[in-house]
Amino acid sequence: MPTDFDTSLDRRATDSLKWNRYADPNLIAMWVADMDFASPPPVLAALRRRLDHGVLGYSVPSPSLVQAVTGHLATEYAWEVDPLWLVWLPGVVPGLHASCRAFAMGGSVATHTPIYPPFLTAPQFAGLPTTTVPLAVRNGRYEFDFAVLEEQIRPDCRLLLLCNPENPAGTLHDQEELARLAEFAERHDLVVCSDEIHCGLVLEENRRHVPFGAVSPVAAARSVVLMAPSKTYNIPGLSCAFAVIPDPAVRTKFLHAIRGIVPDVNALGLIGCEVAYRDCAEWHADLIAYLRGNRDLVEQRVGQWPGFSVTHAEATYLAWIDCRNSGLADPAAFFETTGVGLANGAVYGSPGFLRLNFGCPRAQLVKALDRMENGLRQRVADGAR
Ligand SMILES: Cc1ncc(COP(=O)(O)O)c(C=O)c1O
Repeated sequence: MPTDFDTSLDRRATDSLKWNRYADPNLIAMWVADMDFASPPPVLAALRRRLDHGVLGYSVPSPSLVQAVTGHLATEYAWEVDPLWLVWLPGVVPGLHASCRAFAMGGSVATHTPIYPPFLTAPQFAGLPTTTVPLAVRNGRYEFDFAVLEEQIRPDCRLLLLCNPENPAGTLHDQEELARLAEFAERHDLVVCSDEIHCGLVLEENRRHVPFGAVSPVAAARSVVLMAPSKTYNIPGLSCAFAVIPDPAVRTKFLHAIRGIVPDVNALGLIGCEVAYRDCAEWHADLIAYLRGNRDLVEQRVGQWPGFSVTHAEATYLAWIDCRNSGLADPAAFFETTGVGLANGAVYGSPGFLRLNFGCPRAQLVKALDRMENGLRQRVADGAR
């Protein structure tokens, strides 16, 4: 029997970042990137077993966890990772910050927009200048703009922050694009920190995620690949992530940047990670099928609204919606008045856009889309407020 993703779970009673943001209990929260689905049953069962033991002391990554991670990377991405390359982290964001401090001090950082906000704040908090190059939109797909990158890259740039798959734009960069980026990085002597937290959420049939570190020996030698089971298996609150850093010198610099300030991963996070990667393939396949259905529904519905267009999400459970021709001065604020809480594109560097998280039961998605659509109709009837 396929996994039940249709059951709606009330999350307000759980101090949810996503749902407790809004005072109105009827508002549907679709902003931050966590899903409204229960975590996979094998993960929940393993966590219960661990809690039943009763002692929650410090933990270390077990050999079986390391085996689960390297096995998963080999099976999913044909990437043979030496266990020595793994650096455990309590989140992917600390990995972005650590990379700025490890590789770019005294120089500068480059990244692209639209982008998940910590890509902009991590260099800023380290006092580093940042070059932001907009992704080029070609046939509706957000792609690297190598011409502008070449033109704008600063001579003192030491670090490129890459997001693959892209959040919020949903692009899954392919081998060819990444190989070209690796060649660019080599020519400009850059380390590439590749945030691949959404890599388990490829929605395109017959396409596979390519880890940046697996692109070529050149890429491997200058990469920090950040991954986590958090988005795919919906366990972000367990705070478990890891960096894969093949080059020993790059790894040492990274380790020096985190020592003493980045805590170890907690016991439950390590267990969740191991079981997610080892025992949840069926749940994962069901999830992807369900998310595909949700994505298609969003594209079909929003695509019909005058002045709106949706980027086709090749990966992630995030729809990137262009509202610039809708006549709405502040689309996020407008849809909040209709009872739907969305992420404002301005925080990703793109005012006039919205990001909608469709990782939720279908009925909830339909209800939200109905509210948005009715709000737009009402606005027309009222003579455009
Ligand atoms: C691209 C990206 N990186 C990192 C994170 C957060 O990572 P963590 O919670 O592991 O720090 C998110 C969460 O939305 C994300 O979308």
